[in-house]
Amino acid sequence: MKLRLDRETCQGHGRCYALTPELFDCDDEGYAVLKMASDLAPELLDAARLAVDNCPEYAITLEDA
Ligand code: F3S
Repeated sequence: MKLRLDRETCQGHGRCYALTPELFDCDDEGYAVLKMASDLAPELLDAARLAVDNCPEYAITLEDA
């Protein structure tokens, strides 16, 4: 699975990096930055789903690699 962040859709709500700091960081303006570019490790799948479910802008998606 691959985790994707649409940086144009992100409005900086900050739930992703508050809930799953292992997956997301924030930039200087509070917008999300994805920490991993490659395939998602299986042990991070639950965290990824949590991030997807909690972004109010639907900026985070989980896709088949
Ligand atoms: Fe942005 Fe959604 Fe995170 S709006 S900061 S990707 S919770």
